[in-house]
Amino acid sequence: MKFFVDTGNIADITRLHALGIVDGVTTNPSLMAKESRKPHEILKEICDLVQGPVSGEVVATDYEGMMREGRELREISEHIIVKVPFTPAGVQACKTLTEEGTRVNVTLVFSAAQALIAAKVGAYFVSPFVGRLDDIGHDGMDLIEDIVEIYDNYEFSTQVLVASTRGPLHIIQAAKLGADICTCPPAVLDALFKHPLTDIGLERFLKDWEKAQQK
Ligand code: G3P
Repeated sequence: MKFFVDTGNIADITRLHALGIVDGVTTNPSLMAKESRKPHEILKEICDLVQGPVSGEVVATDYEGMMREGRELREISEHIIVKVPFTPAGVQACKTLTEEGTRVNVTLVFSAAQALIAAKVGAYFVSPFVGRLDDIGHDGMDLIEDIVEIYDNYEFSTQVLVASTRGPLHIIQAAKLGADICTCPPAVLDALFKHPLTDIGLERFLKDWEKAQQK
């Protein structure tokens, strides 16, 4: 399973990338709005650093606007994946951009039907939002199970990018279901490292070692 970081924060990406666990980055307009620099500048820096897929999202809602923004985004770097929302215009833009050789991430996906349509128009990634489904009383992981099954049935090459992850359990469940990628906020990636028995075990090893040196 690949790990992407879901942030536009260069410091967090740099720190996590140095650990060797970051395969790519996803951003969205809300995440970019938290940063103080221009989105295209940030995306360029992320691409240069990560050298892997970096999703930059369009904000236009009409087909022509999405195409214009998508073409601008792809000029930033060969690593850019153009992210479009799942709307009729987004689906149409996904088809055209894909035909032009641009990789597209279809986002804001909340149903298996939407994921099926995204695959039919050649999406490179599909982004189902598990946390936001959990938030309204659904089980986001049921959606991942359905999408993985449907894509396997028809051998779609679209990769399932589990988004809106809230904690380690989402990542483990997604991995058990065979999802291709999880995109995680930095705090979720940090949480994957933590186990109290690791901390206690290390403390004990070091204390025992110190005692042994006094012999
Ligand atoms: O980037 C898309 C998605 O991961 C957003 O997650 O936490 O805002 O629901 P969240």
